[in-house]
Amino acid sequence: MSGGAGYIGSHVTVELIQAGYDVVVADNLSNCDLTCFEGVKKITGKSDLPFVKMDFCDHAATEGLFSSFKIDAVIHFAGFKAVGESVSDPLKYYSNNLGSFVNLLQVARAHGGCNVLFSSSATVYGEPEKSPATESTPRQSATSPYGNTKQICEDILRDSVKAYPEIKGIALRYFNPIGAHPSALIGELPRGVPNNLVPFITQTAVGKRECLSIFGNDYPTPDGTCLRDYIDIVDLAKAHVCAVRRMLDGQMEQPYEIYNIGTGRPVSVLELVTSFEKVNNLKLNYKFAARRPGDVTAIWADPALACEKLHWKAERSVEETLASAWAWEKHLAEQ
Ligand code: UFG
Repeated sequence: MSGGAGYIGSHVTVELIQAGYDVVVADNLSNCDLTCFEGVKKITGKSDLPFVKMDFCDHAATEGLFSSFKIDAVIHFAGFKAVGESVSDPLKYYSNNLGSFVNLLQVARAHGGCNVLFSSSATVYGEPEKSPATESTPRQSATSPYGNTKQICEDILRDSVKAYPEIKGIALRYFNPIGAHPSALIGELPRGVPNNLVPFITQTAVGKRECLSIFGNDYPTPDGTCLRDYIDIVDLAKAHVCAVRRMLDGQMEQPYEIYNIGTGRPVSVLELVTSFEKVNNLKLNYKFAARRPGDVTAIWADPALACEKLHWKAERSVEETLASAWAWEKHLAEQ
């Protein structure tokens, strides 16, 4: 698993181990430390979980990984993900996010091929003409270099499976992953000021931030704030187990498949904030502020295909998820 020590990777590692798979976690630790990796070992009881500190842009290191372990499937999480930074430093994003993926595929081919799961994003839909978005909803031009790298990596995988029969691929398009493991031993650990809503909410609640700004309350939505599809991180992690199983069990109907990973339920920013207050029994300091440039008004998933083909659906309620996010923030505060 590339980028396996991060927020999504650590939750996926737990679910894969609990489903009986052997996992190798590889990460260059450029955007995280080993906190979550240590948490994974505690949750699973796997104190000998293999970790390789490496960069997937490094050809020799990737070769070394494939030579040292028998790899049946790769989940590729490694990549930079800050939308704003990708606008100010696009080459950093193109070289890292595309370079690591191309390198990974080349090495996988040289070792006889591989099943490849790519972590894509609902960002590829841009502002869809209508929601829920299905997998055949047309992609829109990306509004940031980060979003563009997601689209290009999808295309790299699509073209590679077409040309090289030894490669099979699944792209999972995540909507908005939030929350933490119920153990509160792993969760999101953003560096600096969080860009995303839920870490900003929890950091405000714990007193690390003074006030949450809700970006825009004049959108054409029921309460004027943006609509998103917030998907619980453990539910999202379980989708990876289903996708890996489908690949390894030879169940794929096409060599390249795409699935939306969301709940199908739109939730507004204000609803999310209010639910957070209610479920955790606290008051959040928030204010309405100007719209954030680049935000889409509304997007949520049609997850029917994942339900049918991956036998997966989201199960945790928004309330449970928001309680888990708060439990994780409190766990961090106690460290
Ligand atoms: N929001 C606030 N205040 C904040 C942070 C966010 O009001 O402090 C709002 C945003 O305006 C948006 C909603 O909360 O309406 C969700 O924002 P996030 O930043 O949490 O998530 P996005 O939907 O913007 O981000 C998603 C993915 C990214 C992807 C991006 C593309 O999480 O990986 O879409 O635009 F890059």
